[in-house]
Amino acid sequence: MILVTGGAGFIGANFVLDWLRTSDEPVVNLDALTYAGNLENLASLQGDPRHIFVQGDICDRALIDRLFAEHRPRAIVHFAAESHVDRSIHGPGDFVRTNVNGTFTLLEAARGHWMSLEGEAKGGFRFHHVSTDEVYGSLGPNDPAFTETKTYEPNSPYSASKAASDHLVRAWHHTYGLPVTTSNCSNNYGPYHFPEKLIPLMIANALAGKPLPVYGDGMQIRDWLFVTDHCSAIRAILAKGTPGEVYNVGGWNEKPNIEIVNTLCALLDELKPDPAGSYRRLITYVTDRPGHDRRYAIDARKIERELGWRPAETFDTGIRKTVEWYLANQNWVAHVQSGAYRDWVEKNYAGRE
Ligand code: NAD
Ligand code: DAU
Repeated sequence: MILVTGGAGFIGANFVLDWLRTSDEPVVNLDALTYAGNLENLASLQGDPRHIFVQGDICDRALIDRLFAEHRPRAIVHFAAESHVDRSIHGPGDFVRTNVNGTFTLLEAARGHWMSLEGEAKGGFRFHHVSTDEVYGSLGPNDPAFTETKTYEPNSPYSASKAASDHLVRAWHHTYGLPVTTSNCSNNYGPYHFPEKLIPLMIANALAGKPLPVYGDGMQIRDWLFVTDHCSAIRAILAKGTPGEVYNVGGWNEKPNIEIVNTLCALLDELKPDPAGSYRRLITYVTDRPGHDRRYAIDARKIERELGWRPAETFDTGIRKTVEWYLANQNWVAHVQSGAYRDWVEKNYAGRE
């Protein structure tokens, strides 16, 4: 079996669902169920003996040791993190705790477990660390896309904490020989995306007739990847990746934020027209994010060349599926827009002009 951390969050839940759709290998899913973790994402697995959910913290060494001893996973796929840049600006402490200390704790527990293995079990063990393109910093308009050898220049508390975790993972391989792999992926989108991030926030606000808050001039560029393509990339790395290697994962889909928002408005105008007029009328430019990175772009040629991975979705197919999913799952959206969510919206948007 495999041990997944953060498997009740956006990408982790998609990964667990995809894993159990394509394999019968059981999953132990360790997640603290912070505001971003949601068991509703895994509702379709209820009663499925291949999915063992454990509510717990990746900083809890005793718990992780117990999970390794009890389940003896052949691999760990580490998603658990604080993941939202805006939240890291308001409160960086949780990011250092979970992303840095949590990854350290997992690495130490995994090292202890791996040292106790022998033969094939030891040789085949993997620790896969899920990281982000944000560790590489911000690109100018004509800079080449990030390759795996790009220097690290993280700019936000979130990306700095992820960079720190990447360095720990690298060191645990270099010093102790722990068989690690790391992926640095671009912006994901798709089902179960928590509506504090750009795409689900814009869909939710549009449907509620609320302003669509575009930071700054809206010309920041992100490289968008449909979430199931990220999941297939991780499966490919787990199956065929080389220990110690880093793989950049991206969709070859660079787009400025304002184009994303316009596309969402056009899709909603088609699929759920509002008698009050086009959703575009709700677009509102607001004060920029402090330290806002201007452009990310991933050069994904290494993973294609070495592991034969390419995204299956284009942006057009992926974004349509995403909007359709949110329209069909309004209850899911309503449930996650709890009191805590409303507090966050107030904190992040009330002070912006
Ligand atoms: P998310 O915020 O939706 O989910 C994070 C999950 O981790 C939640 O279920 C949460 O409960 C859990 N968690 C948080 N702290 C924990 C702790 N201390 N112990 C155990 N569980 C804890 O995040 P996501 O968008 O699904 O991102 C998953 C991973 O992928 C992160 O490591 C993130 O850095 C990385 N990543 C995300 C993107 C993206 O576009 N969302 C892109 C590249 C990489
Ligand atoms: O690049 C990978 C990263 O992508 C991941 O590592 C992070 O975990 C993930 O959250 C995401 O970070 P971003 O900061 O790029 O995502 P977010 O959805 O928060 O913002 C996307 C862009 O949209 C960014 O340029 C900021 C802008 N934005 C965001 C929000 C929430 C707005 O203009 N308005 C908004 O209200």
